[in-house]
Amino acid sequence: MNNGAKRRVGILISGRGSNMLSLIEAAKAPDFPAQIVAVGSNKPEAKGLETASKEGFATFAVDHKLYGKDREAFERDLDAKLRENNVELLVLAGFLRLLTPWFVHQWQGRMINIHPALLPSFTGLHTHERALTEGVRIHGATVHFVTAEMDVGPIIAQGAVPVLDGDTPDALAARVLEVEHRIYPIALEAVASGKVHISGLRVKIDNSEHEGDSLIA
Ligand code: GAR
Repeated sequence: MNNGAKRRVGILISGRGSNMLSLIEAAKAPDFPAQIVAVGSNKPEAKGLETASKEGFATFAVDHKLYGKDREAFERDLDAKLRENNVELLVLAGFLRLLTPWFVHQWQGRMINIHPALLPSFTGLHTHERALTEGVRIHGATVHFVTAEMDVGPIIAQGAVPVLDGDTPDALAARVLEVEHRIYPIALEAVASGKVHISGLRVKIDNSEHEGDSLIA
């Protein structure tokens, strides 16, 4: 852990917030190197905001619909909320809003995302349907640093699941989600403790006790 102090983490969500909850649970451990200081959303009605609030966390919404096409104005307000809360590390957990290069630059190297596929395969939307259509035998989830290009960025952790005969997109999504809930806390722990070093597109993790977990079948 850095200087014995917990890193201040902000989480951004757009929906139900199950990944957020897995991070909240992990952060309850006394030796977890991060504390969640705020949960925000671009959707005031996001179910996860209610969950976070019930758990006792400060929440906020910056409703993107109020900004029309002015993405930067929306992002400036979002950024201001995060700074008000002295957020050091930003975690996107089902935050389904494209970010401009300006915002990404503000948080470069300090913003991570979870994507429901084994990147670089299946960037973008409908990953589970596409994995089934393409007939892959292994699917999964990826935690990565956010860069200006969507769903591209140094990979911190990945978890894999088998694709089974008779899988539907929903069945596959549920299997992948379990892996998401497992790898996101591991990735956040590694980043917050300062063990993660970026070199180009590659990430090196010092003394990772979770090395074997980077591939979960
Ligand atoms: C998760 O499956 C996450 O990987 C995905 O949205 C879901 C959010 O669920 N994110 C993306 O598709 C980002 N491109 P949750 O709100 O229950 O965590």
